[in-house]
Amino acid sequence: MVEPVGPYNPVVMDHFMHPKNMGEIEDADAIGEAVNPVCGDSMRLFIKVVDDRIVESRFLTFGCGAAIASSSITTEMIKGKTLDEVLRIRDQDVVDALGGLPAAKLHCSVLAEMALSAAVAVYRKRRGG
Ligand code: FES
Repeated sequence: MVEPVGPYNPVVMDHFMHPKNMGEIEDADAIGEAVNPVCGDSMRLFIKVVDDRIVESRFLTFGCGAAIASSSITTEMIKGKTLDEVLRIRDQDVVDALGGLPAAKLHCSVLAEMALSAAVAVYRKRRGG
């Protein structure tokens, strides 16, 4: 399916067309997985953590342009932040960082928030936290 690109602003378009940190981390400390209940699109977020801080993250997202842009900017937003700090990131923060999403695409940013909290939960569970 051809993605309609008209409604996206330049920031969204840049992250959609040139996603940052796309791919896997083979020796990730945790992988968070999420499926958007609205459309079924999915995201996997790989994180590396040192001293409770995210030092690297990458993503694989099977979804629309807004989902890919949300995933991409989320990997930039969380770099260097503590796990507690990233858990405070909400989908609206992702939308704001992108400079807004079309109303029909707002739900796409939820995928990033869900994958993020899942990754932290997996990491803490592995650590016995
Ligand atoms: S339409 Fe599924 S995440 Fe955007």
